[in-house]
Amino acid sequence: MVGMMQTGGQIPTLDVRGLTLRFGSVEVLREVTLQVPSFGITALIGPNGAGKTALLNAVTGIYRPQSGQVLLDSEDITGLPAHVIAKKGIGRSFQHLELFQRLTVIENLLVFRDRHFSGNPLAALWFLGKTARQEAEQRAAAEDVIDFFELWPYRDAVVTGLSYGTQKIIGVTRAMAMSPRLLLLDEPASGLTREEKENLARFILRLRSDWKVPILWIEHDMDLVMDLADRIYVLELGHCIASGTPSEIRDNLEVRKSYLGAT
Ligand SMILES: Nc1ncnc2c1ncn2[C@@H]1O[C@H](COP(=O)(O)OP(=O)(O)OP(=O)(O)O)[C@@H](O)[C@H]1O
Ligand SMILES: [Mg+2]
Repeated sequence: MVGMMQTGGQIPTLDVRGLTLRFGSVEVLREVTLQVPSFGITALIGPNGAGKTALLNAVTGIYRPQSGQVLLDSEDITGLPAHVIAKKGIGRSFQHLELFQRLTVIENLLVFRDRHFSGNPLAALWFLGKTARQEAEQRAAAEDVIDFFELWPYRDAVVTGLSYGTQKIIGVTRAMAMSPRLLLLDEPASGLTREEKENLARFILRLRSDWKVPILWIEHDMDLVMDLADRIYVLELGHCIASGTPSEIRDNLEVRKSYLGAT
C-alpha cells in the first residue's frame, strides 16, 4: 500500500487488519488495512461502490467479514454482534439517516443512550433512586450534545417535519449522545447546502478539538476532506490504494488517475 501511515507508536483506537468481505462470489472488501489513531480526523474516500459503507458495516458488526481482524483499543471485536460492538463505544451516523422519524429529537438521543443504562425495569422497582439518577444522567448527557450541536430550537420537534440538513446533524448528534470512544460518520455532508456544510465542518472541528473523539469520516466532498482531515485513506473496488496526509493524497498519481481526476 502506498504511504503506510505511522501512528507514533501509540495504540490506534481502531485497527483494521486485512479485512476481506464477500457476498457470494462478489468480493466487496479485499484485505483492507486501516488505522484510526486516538486523535484527529481520518477520512475515507473513494468512488461510489468502493466499499466504504461496507467497511463501516463490517467494523460495527452488521456484516461478518470472511477474514481479517477489527481491533478497538487493541480488543478483538471481529464478528461480534452489532449491539455488543455499539455498547463497546462505537458511535455511528448513517448515510441514509435511519432516524426514528416519529420520535422527537431528544427521544431519538435517549433511545440510543441505553449503552449506559445498567438498571433493568424490574430491578428499577427496587432501586428506584439509582435508576432515577441514571435517567437524570442520561438526560443530562443528551442535553449536552443538543447544546453542542445547537439543536435547542428542535429539541422537542418530531424528526419527520425537520429539514434534511437538520436531520443529518441529528444523526451525528445521536451518535455522539452515547459518548462514544470512536465516531464513524458516513457521508454526513451529502445533500447539505454550502451553508449547512460549513456548519457541519465547524462541528467536526470542535469534536476534534473540544471532545477529542477520534473520527473516521466517509466523505465525497473533496474540498471538505482536504480542509479538515488529518489523514486520508483511499478505497477503490474494495481495496485500499493509498493513505497519507491531504497533500500526499492530492499529489498521489494513482489516486488522481482513479478518483480525483474523475471528479
Ligand atoms: N448486503 C450486500 N449484499 C451484496 N452486495 C453488497 C451488500 N452491501 C454492499 N454490497 C456491494 O458492495 C459494494 C460496495 O458497496 P458500498 O455501499 O460499501 O459502497 P460505498 O463505497 O459506500 O458507495 P457510495 O459512495 O455510493 O455510498 C457495492 O458493489 C455493493 O453493491
Ligand atoms: Mg456508502
